[in-house]
Amino acid sequence: MTMTYENVLTELENGVLIITVNRPDKLNALNNRTIEELHEALMEAENEKDIRAIIITGSGQKAFVAGADIAEFSDFNISQGRHLSATGHFKIFNFIENYSKPVIAAVNGFALGGGLELAMACHMRLASENAKMGLPEVTLGVIPGYGGTQRLAQLVGKGKAFEMIVTADMMNAEEAYKWGLVNYVTKQEDLLNKCKEIAAKISLRSGVAIKTAIKVINAGYNKQENGYEVEIEEFGKMFGTADFKEGVKAFLEKRKANFPGN
Ligand code: COA
Repeated sequence: MTMTYENVLTELENGVLIITVNRPDKLNALNNRTIEELHEALMEAENEKDIRAIIITGSGQKAFVAGADIAEFSDFNISQGRHLSATGHFKIFNFIENYSKPVIAAVNGFALGGGLELAMACHMRLASENAKMGLPEVTLGVIPGYGGTQRLAQLVGKGKAFEMIVTADMMNAEEAYKWGLVNYVTKQEDLLNKCKEIAAKISLRSGVAIKTAIKVINAGYNKQENGYEVEIEEFGKMFGTADFKEGVKAFLEKRKANFPGN
């Protein structure tokens, strides 16, 4: 399957959809159209049973995504600013966090502002050695508006998040690894393959169990929910799935499970 967009490339390989933000001459900055296209690509992939995981990366050697498109919001007023943030949360950042399939960020260069927020909305992040990550919004007189104030603290702890946001300093890949912002650091040419390796493992597991695990892990970060209670309910529900029956049967028969996916 290959869908064609203006600012986003998609490529399906072995059940893994690779989405590439493709505005290299603007360092893949997220303008409105790119947000729409990313949302559409993700929506389409959500219903494709054959797609088991998503990898998001940036076009070219230099940038993952260098932020929201500064030129596009430069003359916004207060209500337009609020709308920009709310729409982004809804269409991309919360959407990815709560996506039913694992989403992996392949951070292949600059991930700044909205770019780092995009990577942080993903379920895990891998970076190439040249990657640089930061939330430089205060240099523009704004704050992170796509979840960065919340997710950076969840990933690196409150103290480091404060430092990064108020100084606008960037982290290199090694530092990001040390602080738990990325799971692995690779050479640039190995980044996608390492992401694909993880995605391949995901593809072998129960899709229903993975979808449920994503929901329950996220519940713990939602103040309206009690993660432990959600876990009890969702754990119980798993016993009614065909994947559970197959998984346990396969174990007892000493063979690999072939999950039906429901
Ligand atoms: N929004 C819009 N355009 C952007 C952009 C962004 N966030 N980031 C980069 N670009 C554009 C530049 O304007 C430039 O366009 P031009 O060639 O038409 O002038 C092009 O991408 C290349 O960027 P440039 O700044 O020339 O590259 P560089 O190597 O000198 O610097 C960065 C790289 C990442 C340090 C620099 O582009 C930067 O600071 N970008 C903004 C990062 C930011 O503040 N993001 C948070 C936004 S909320």
